Amino acid sequence: MAAGEADGQLAESRRGEARRMDAIVLLKDDHKTVEKLFKAFEKAGKGAHKEKQRIVGKIIQELTVHAYIEEEIFYPSARHEVPETGSHVLESVEEHHVVVWMLSELKNLDPADERYDAKVTVLIENVRHHVEEEEQEWFPQVRKALGRNRLQELGERMGKAKADAPSDPLSLMSAWA
Ligand SMILES: [Fe+2]
Ligand SMILES: [Fe+2]
Repeated sequence: MAAGEADGQLAESRRGEARRMDAIVLLKDDHKTVEKLFKAFEKAGKGAHKEKQRIVGKIIQELTVHAYIEEEIFYPSARHEVPETGSHVLESVEEHHVVVWMLSELKNLDPADERYDAKVTVLIENVRHHVEEEEQEWFPQVRKALGRNRLQELGERMGKAKADAPSDPLSLMSAWA
């Protein structure tokens, strides 16, 4: 194969990858985005109420969209297509349930309230634990069972579904599950 031809194929496959985002890569990217916001919150000074409220607003937004695409697309697919992940998925939904109620409380809480930082700290602990379980315990099982093409199909659907996510965390399925 000529070098130019190989380059062309490589460029083609790279374009393909950009178009067809793998579902697990997409979810892990979201996790990184949220972790950056957590670090920003932890760095903000004690009295930086306005800044903390702004960061928490972003956290609420990011986590609501992320939980939405997991609950609408990724979790049901994992459960149906990789039945051995069933108990992990159920546990994950319970964790979402706790998180979305905390998000809904933070939405209306004054950042100067003495419970504000404590509530955000516990939220962060919960989400970090949840992300670790997803990434370490059961996403690898899903990757192995579904394979690349199926994960790309799901990723494509999830990328599009972000636009349909609600802004209210209590509109998520897990809030009432
Ligand atoms: Fe999750
Ligand atoms: Fe997640």
